[in-house]
Amino acid sequence: MDTVIRKIDVNNIDREVMEEASQVLHRGGMVAFPTETVYGLGADALDEKASAKIYAAKGRPSDNPLIVHISDIEQLDKLVCEIPDNAKKLMDAFWPGPMTLIFKKSGLVPDGTTGGLDTVAVRMPNHKAALELIRTSGVAIAAPSANTSGRPSPTTAAHVADDLSGKIDMIIDGGAVGIGIESTIVDVTSEIPMVLRPGYITMEMLEKVVGKVGIDKAITGPVSPDVKPKAPGMKYKHYAPKAELTMFKGELKNVVEHINNLTDKNVKSGIKTGIIACEETKDMYKAGEVLSIGSRNNEDTIAHNLYGVLRKFDDMNVDVIYGETFEDNRLGQAIMNRLLKAAGYHVEKV
Ligand code: TXA
Ligand code: MG
Repeated sequence: MDTVIRKIDVNNIDREVMEEASQVLHRGGMVAFPTETVYGLGADALDEKASAKIYAAKGRPSDNPLIVHISDIEQLDKLVCEIPDNAKKLMDAFWPGPMTLIFKKSGLVPDGTTGGLDTVAVRMPNHKAALELIRTSGVAIAAPSANTSGRPSPTTAAHVADDLSGKIDMIIDGGAVGIGIESTIVDVTSEIPMVLRPGYITMEMLEKVVGKVGIDKAITGPVSPDVKPKAPGMKYKHYAPKAELTMFKGELKNVVEHINNLTDKNVKSGIKTGIIACEETKDMYKAGEVLSIGSRNNEDTIAHNLYGVLRKFDDMNVDVIYGETFEDNRLGQAIMNRLLKAAGYHVEKV
């Protein structure tokens, strides 16, 4: 299939492009579109055949449910059985925005969209083009990240095209996304809300609104077969660049020295080595392909660059990647969650 790519100006959205995309959704096709977190691959959430196409295009395991995107609170009533008080508070505080809530699903939402679960994930994105597409089409849009399953999530339309060109109907190119990592997933079906995937909305931000918040144990470390993550997607290898990634923790100057030593040896044996550095250290590396992921003084920059850096190493065809580790509190929790998964939890202390 030919994939149509349409560029838009997010501050002056072309109505024709939105109409064209709506028609694709109405006939059960797939449209990739920007959100504030990452690009999503959208289809009609209430059309089981349409959401089945998403799984095929991404090569996604069928037990991994999709997030349903809405533009207006009124759409929620149709999709869920009940809206708990904690959900109302969180929605007031963070929607539209990078937070996904898990509800008990209504009979309208097909099992194909929820991977057979009796719950449904819903998010109202904070991005003009995403909201406009949902409003113009009148469709609740099921959308996972618009990457091939297992690869780093897409933060530009070019990343989407790299993975899915020829497999989907349309890509709306609204430029680079703002945040760069996926939404925080919060299960509000239990009395104490549970974070199932860390994201841009931190534990501290959630706790300010609803008090105590739990975190699914399975997402804070490698998953052993007896611990099942509550978000099915978290059990799969994810976000991974092609080359093996090893992360190093310890005092920063020791980490830099260690990576320099390893890279020096690699270069002598012709092993092309990628290094995930930061603004503060990038000039301290003597060899290798050094990419700065952002500044330690501004975690937003790290989230923003994370997937792009992993994809760039793929483009450079490096043989191995070494990475610094980052603080894992606040937004750092989401950053380290993604990096550790990309590294298959391969971390060495130096
Ligand atoms: O920021 C985001 O959330 C992006 C943009 C496009 O909105 N979407 C995204 O979707 O990251 P995806 O499919 O890559 O990740 C969805 C995650 C998966 O880990 C999936 O298992 C989990 O949400 N999930 C979806 N429905 C669920 C449910 N009913 N219960 C538990 N986890 C669920
Ligand atoms: Mg994803």
